[in-house]
Amino acid sequence: ATAGPLAGRTVLITSGPTREALDPVRYLTNHSSGKMGHALAEAARDAGARVVLVSGPSRLSAPAGVEAVAVESARDMHREVMARVGEMDLFIGAAAVADYRPEQSAGRKIKKSDSDTALRLVPNPDILREVAALGEGRPFTVGFAAETDDLARHARDKLDRKRLDMIAANWVGADRGFHADDNALEVYWPGDGHASLARADKPALARQLIQLIAEHYHARSRG
Ligand code: C5P
Repeated sequence: ATAGPLAGRTVLITSGPTREALDPVRYLTNHSSGKMGHALAEAARDAGARVVLVSGPSRLSAPAGVEAVAVESARDMHREVMARVGEMDLFIGAAAVADYRPEQSAGRKIKKSDSDTALRLVPNPDILREVAALGEGRPFTVGFAAETDDLARHARDKLDRKRLDMIAANWVGADRGFHADDNALEVYWPGDGHASLARADKPALARQLIQLIAEHYHARSRG
């Protein structure tokens, strides 16, 4: 598409979970399905953008017309994002990136024994924070926050701490968030900006969020 609010713009989106290897056959991960990130990629494409989707393992295939980059671990995702983000107008971090990885990934399958064992974890790079910290010429940067409590406070805190242009927060719990087909979003931006996107299926929600992002992106470019 050449028309639409993001015509001629480039958008990089991360999606899905990451997998952090323990050994060749085991890994740590989370329940992210990739539904929201993939829906955002479609919506951004339909808004006229050139879209690159960097996705961890997901059952979903990349939407048509979107450039797909498949990754496994947070460090893979970090590398692929940083290699491309310089040419992007917008960055949307929708992936559920593992905060930690096992300190060591054994080259061979870890053997069972009768004694206790401990797993030492080390922090992964915070991709979103690094992109937002790029400084002059950085893309318009949007993060997600999945919270089980105190949504507004935690989301605003992330917005400030990571110096984002916008954050989309949602409740997660037993039947909400990750695998669900619908969701609701509270969106915040600097200067006490706030919008509520009512419960809808993820494609509809993604279209509304892309609309909101495009408005603010253009307002910033004009400012
Ligand atoms: O601080 P928290 O992990 O809850 O922030 C969530 C946001 O940060 C999401 O947009 C997620 O994609 C991004 N993130 C990231 N790299 C990490 C952890 C989170 O890009 N290592």
